[in-house]
Amino acid sequence: MRVLEIKGKTGETKIVLGESASEVPKYAQGGEIVLVMDERVRALHGEKFKGMRIVEIGEGEEAKTLESVQLLYGKFLELGLDRGSCVVAVGGGIACDLAGFAAATYLRGVEFGFVPTTLLAQADASVGGKNGVNFKGYKNLIGTFSQPKFVLCDFGMLESLPRPHMQEGMAEMIKSAAIGDAQLFSFLEDNCAQVLSLKRTAIEKAVHDCLVVKTKIVQADETEKGERRKLNFGHTVGHALEKISEGKISHGKAVAIGMCVAAKISVAKGMMAQKDADRLEELLKKAGLPTKMDARDAGALMQKAGALEKADAQKEAVLDAMRKDKKMERGMLNFVLLEGIGKAKVVQMGLEEIGEHL
Ligand SMILES: NC(=O)c1ccc[n+]([C@@H]2O[C@H](COP(=O)([O-])OP(=O)(O)OC[C@H]3O[C@@H](n4cnc5c(N)ncnc54)[C@H](O)[C@@H]3O)[C@@H](O)[C@H]2O)c1
Ligand SMILES: [Zn+2]
Repeated sequence: MRVLEIKGKTGETKIVLGESASEVPKYAQGGEIVLVMDERVRALHGEKFKGMRIVEIGEGEEAKTLESVQLLYGKFLELGLDRGSCVVAVGGGIACDLAGFAAATYLRGVEFGFVPTTLLAQADASVGGKNGVNFKGYKNLIGTFSQPKFVLCDFGMLESLPRPHMQEGMAEMIKSAAIGDAQLFSFLEDNCAQVLSLKRTAIEKAVHDCLVVKTKIVQADETEKGERRKLNFGHTVGHALEKISEGKISHGKAVAIGMCVAAKISVAKGMMAQKDADRLEELLKKAGLPTKMDARDAGALMQKAGALEKADAQKEAVLDAMRKDKKMERGMLNFVLLEGIGKAKVVQMGLEEIGEHL
C-alpha cells in the first residue's frame, strides 16, 4: 500500500493506493456515508459496500449534466445529509466529476471522497480538485475547484474494466510520464503489458508515479494559471479530433494522436531530438494506441469537407475545431510541447503555425 498526501489551498487529500474499496468508512469523517455510482458499477461492485447507502446516477457524458446534479441534491435532501456527512463517488471520471461537484456545492460543501474504478480515474481524473458538469455541448463548463478528502485506489476494481478502457487510461499515463517523469516513461516502456494486465506491483508503481506528476503540477498551480496547462499535452489537437469525429475517436486515442503531433512540432522547432519523438510513438504503439488517424476516420472527415483533398480536409476540420476551442486567447493557443521525455514547455502558438505540422 502506498499513501500520497496533497495539501492544497482548496483542501487536503489523502490518496491511498492498494487499499480495499470496502474500507471507505475508515476514511470518512464518521457521519452518514452516501455512495454515488452508476448501474453498471453497482452491479459489478455494489456488494463490496455492505450496509452503506447507494444513490444511482446515469452513465456516460449525457449524464454529466446540471439535471443529474439536481437529482443528486434531491436525494441528499431526502437522505437528510448534513455537514457531517460524506459523499463518495464510486466509478469513472464521470461519477467523480458529477458527485464531487454536487457535494462541493450542497450546503456550500459537504465532505466527499472517491473510489475511482477506471484506470483513467485512478491515474488522473480523481486527483487535482477539478469537478463539474457539461453544459450546452461544452465539456466541463460548470464546476468548482475543491479537493476530495480521500481517494482510494483499489486495483482489484479494474479487473472488470474492458481492455479498450484500460488503454484509455494508459494514454493519460503516457502523457503524465512524457510531461513530468522520464523514469516513469522508461518504466512504462519496459512494463506496459504488465500494467495493462494489472500485475499488482507494476500497476501500483505506475499509478503512484502518475499521481506524483499530477500532484506536483497541481500544487504549483491549483487553479490553472500556468503550470497546470502542461496537463493538456496532446489535448489541444486531441479535443479537436474527438469533436470532428463526433466521438468515434475516443478521448484516449485522440490524445495519443495529439501527443504525436505535439512531439512532431517539438522536433521541428528544434526543442526535442527525433529519437525522443520516436520513443513516444513506440510506447503508444506498445499500448495499442494510434499514432495517426486511420484511413476510415479520415474518410469520414473527407465526406464532411466535400471536395477538398484528403489531407487538406482532415487538416481544415481539425483547425476549425481548434478555432472554437474555449481555451483560445486572442487567436493564440497555449500549446504544450516537449523539450525531451519528461520535460514539457507551454508555448503560445497561432493556428497557422500548428496547421503547418498537421
Ligand atoms: N476532473 C478531472 O481532472 C478530470 C480529468 C480527466 C478526465 N475527467 C473526466 O473523466 C470522464 C471520463 O472518465 P472515464 O474515462 O473514467 O469514463 P466513465 O466515468 O464514463 O466510465 C466509463 C464506463 O466504464 C464503466 N465502468 C467504470 N468502472 C468500471 C469497472 N471497474 N468495470 C467495468 N466497467 C466500469 C462505467 O459504468 C462507464 O460506463 C470525462 O467526463 C472527463 O471529462 C476529469
Ligand atoms: Zn484527457
